[in-house]
Amino acid sequence: MKNHQLLLGVNIDHVATLRQARYRDTGRVAGGFVEPDPLYAALIAEQAGADCITIHPREDQRHIQRKDLYRLRQSLQTRLNMEMACTQEMAEFAAEIHPDSVCLVPENRTEVTTEGGLDVVGQFERVRETVESMIAEGIKVSLFIDPDEEQIDCAAELNADMVELHTGAFANHYYDVQGRLELEKLVAAAIQGHELSLTVNAGHGINYVNISKILEIPHLHELNIGHSIVSRAIYFGLDEAVREMKSRMQL
Ligand code: PXP
Repeated sequence: MKNHQLLLGVNIDHVATLRQARYRDTGRVAGGFVEPDPLYAALIAEQAGADCITIHPREDQRHIQRKDLYRLRQSLQTRLNMEMACTQEMAEFAAEIHPDSVCLVPENRTEVTTEGGLDVVGQFERVRETVESMIAEGIKVSLFIDPDEEQIDCAAELNADMVELHTGAFANHYYDVQGRLELEKLVAAAIQGHELSLTVNAGHGINYVNISKILEIPHLHELNIGHSIVSRAIYFGLDEAVREMKSRMQL
């Protein structure tokens, strides 16, 4: 089964990572000139063909700040997808920002980036509360989960709109024999999700090389890609980086 019109969500967290590396205390040291600006990056990504802008305001605000969200919400022309932990505080913040969608992710203070999928099976009640509060706000809900049968069943049971399949294990094993097995798990999970009427997205660790194998996964609707696009932007500019990824996503 081929993917048609596979959409691209550009994750701009790492634009903010770079900004925070220098301007953690922006008001005092930089006046109005603080670079790079995630909003400016988001607008360039949209111009280059991004279908959605994804951000993850983490509890420790290590990259995206809450004030970035207000500016993004006002100015984006496409969609805003907010990744968030399943906490009351984040649910309240999401209700205020009202992104087009939220993607519920696990959050562990010590991790550098999101390491595993959300354990919907193990934290069913907690996830249910957040899913229900987001649905009540009219915000679409995605669950970032490992390609695991039970997790997908639970996502459907919770009436989530979407799942985002965690492609990190596949990306980590891309150059060894386990990579093929990880890809098979993603294929099976995508088929199962589709059969359960879930919209199937994917993300984490997708880059300009492994994207060709990601395209073997059926029923994909949208990919969320951050690190590789922001990295390539350092060499060739963000506009070119987004266009190149979009072109490699075409079948
Ligand atoms: N999707 C989710 C749910 C994530 O947590 C991340 C990492 O922030 C991404 C996609 C993007 O991953 P990467 O930066 O490796 O492309």
